[in-house]
Order: sequence, then structure tokens, then C-alpha cells
Amino acid sequence: MEMLDLTGRVAIITGGGTGIGATTARLFAEHGADVVLSGRKVERLQSTAEEITAQTGRRAIAVQTDVREDDQVQHMIDRTINEFGQLDILINNAGGAYMFPTKDTPPDRFRNAIELNLTSAYLCAHAALPHLLKSQHASIVSMSSAAGVQGVKGGSAYSAGKAGLQMFTRVIAAEWGPKGVRANAIAVGGVASEGALRSWERFGMDADSMGAEVPLRRVGYPIDIANGALFFCSEMSSWITGQTLSIDGGPRGLGGLTDDALWPEDSE
Ligand SMILES: NC(=O)c1ccc[n+]([C@@H]2O[C@H](COP(=O)([O-])OP(=O)(O)OC[C@H]3O[C@@H](n4cnc5c(N)ncnc54)[C@H](OP(=O)(O)O)[C@@H]3O)[C@@H](O)[C@H]2O)c1
Repeated sequence: MEMLDLTGRVAIITGGGTGIGATTARLFAEHGADVVLSGRKVERLQSTAEEITAQTGRRAIAVQTDVREDDQVQHMIDRTINEFGQLDILINNAGGAYMFPTKDTPPDRFRNAIELNLTSAYLCAHAALPHLLKSQHASIVSMSSAAGVQGVKGGSAYSAGKAGLQMFTRVIAAEWGPKGVRANAIAVGGVASEGALRSWERFGMDADSMGAEVPLRRVGYPIDIANGALFFCSEMSSWITGQTLSIDGGPRGLGGLTDDALWPEDSE
């Protein structure tokens, strides 16, 4: 447990009011960190922050931020330093999928997906860097997607943005590693957050039908991803940087023998 201890550290979690971000913020606070939650909808951020403080006793604050806007990102960093005097961890979690045929995708939608899923990580990391350089435990984790590894039809901008996020992570890890700042990414598979459940429903899918396609036979839960983020921000991963870890229940879409051929006893 000592290797996973975050006592004395301050973490910003973008998109921290809901889903994977809120679960990550809660887990970090349970391990001793003070947390800053950012996002656009301030009521949701505030209620999550209050819950975290009530449950863990750690300080949690809400900072309204649109991560596509550089002045708002700078305000998020300044507010963190004013409140806590330091910044050790940045979780680039805010993001979202825009699913549409590429031929019908207007330029502003494409640009927006790239700004939300890729440029935002640059804005946050760039503004955080002067403070991360003063930390003994500086770590950046960015939430990418399985869509950024294998691609997804209808999500050209989202997939490209998330793939770009992985390469951004690799490059800053090489540039900032000599100064003690680590950066890693998580390629998130299908995780039953509220946002994901809503978008699966639009495509006639639910957690059961999504989970049936996964080698480990279930969808993920936000805590599966939060555990990976904790690993990347703790001493457990102190010699790991520049990596993208798939947390997705296993590889999908492989050819070859069917499950019935591999496990005939199951169909008897
Ligand atoms: N769940 C999955 O199956 C899955 C799969 C692959 C990747 N991911 C990635 O995991 C991350 C978290 O997703 P989730 O499933 O937890 O969904 P979610 O609950 O919808 O979380 C997305 C968060 O991002 C925030 N956000 C969106 N646009 C923003 C903006 N412009 N500025 C600031 N914050 C913004 C939202 O808050 P506001 O609306 O208040 O701004 C929300 O809190 C995302 O990057 C997503 O792409 C999820």
C-alpha cells in the first residue's frame, strides 16, 4: 500500500465531475491526494467534490473549465496553485466521442473533436509544466481509447485525436523525463460510465451486449481505469514513462478459431 500512497500530492482531474474522472478523483483522495476537479458543468463538479471530501477527508475543489480554451486552462492551473501551492499530478480525462460518417462530418465538428481529445491535453500539460517541474512525483496520465489503437468507423476525428494523444504522451515523456516528469496514457475500452451507457443506447447496445464481445466477458467499470491511473501516478510505476496501457478486457477482433471451436465443452 505504501507504494500506492499519494499523501501530500495534489492532482488535477479534468472531466472530474462524472464517470471515469470522478472515480479516479475519489480513488486518489482515498490514497491521500488533494484533488481539483474541472469541467464545464459546475454543479456536478461541486457535488462530486463535496462527496469526495465527505468520504475521504481530503480537500477537493471544483474549477469550472472548458479544456479547449487556453485562458480557462491557465485559470484552472492558477486556481490550483492559489489553493494548494503545488501541483504533482495531471489527469487529462476530459474528452468524448463524436460518431458520424466522415463524408458527412462538417469541418467544425472535426476540429472540435481534435481540440477536445488532443489539443486540450497539450494546453493542460503545457500550462501545468512549470509546477510539475517543482514536484518530486510529477506524473501526467491521459485517457485515450481503444479507438485510438485500432480505429472505429464513424469516429475518424475521435480515433485520430486519441491516437495523437498517445503520440503526444510519448514525445513529452522523452522531452520531460530528464526533469522527472512522467507521462503515460490509458487506451480505455468499453467502460459503463453514464456517458458511455447513453451513447451505447443510441446504437442499440447495452453493457451485456458490449461485454459479450470482450475476452474477459464484461464491460469495464470506471474503477478499472482509475486503478490504472493510480498505478501510473504512484511509485509502483516509477521507471515507466511514454507508454500506453490498454485497459479493455482483452484483445478483440482477432481472426482464427471461433470460441465454439476453442471451447466446445461450453456449447455441449
Ligand atoms: N467510457 C468509455 O467507454 C470510454 C472508452 C474510451 C475512452 N473513454 C475516454 O475516457 C474519458 C472519460 O469518459 P467517461 O466515459 O467517464 O465519460 P463522461 O462521464 O462523459 O466524461 C467526460 C467528462 O469530460 C468533461 N468534458 C467534456 N467536454 C469538456 C470540455 N470541453 N471541457 C472540460 N471538460 C469537458 C465532461 O464534463 P462537462 O460536460 O461538465 O464538461 C465529463 O465530466 C474520455 O476522455 C473518453 O473519451 C471512455
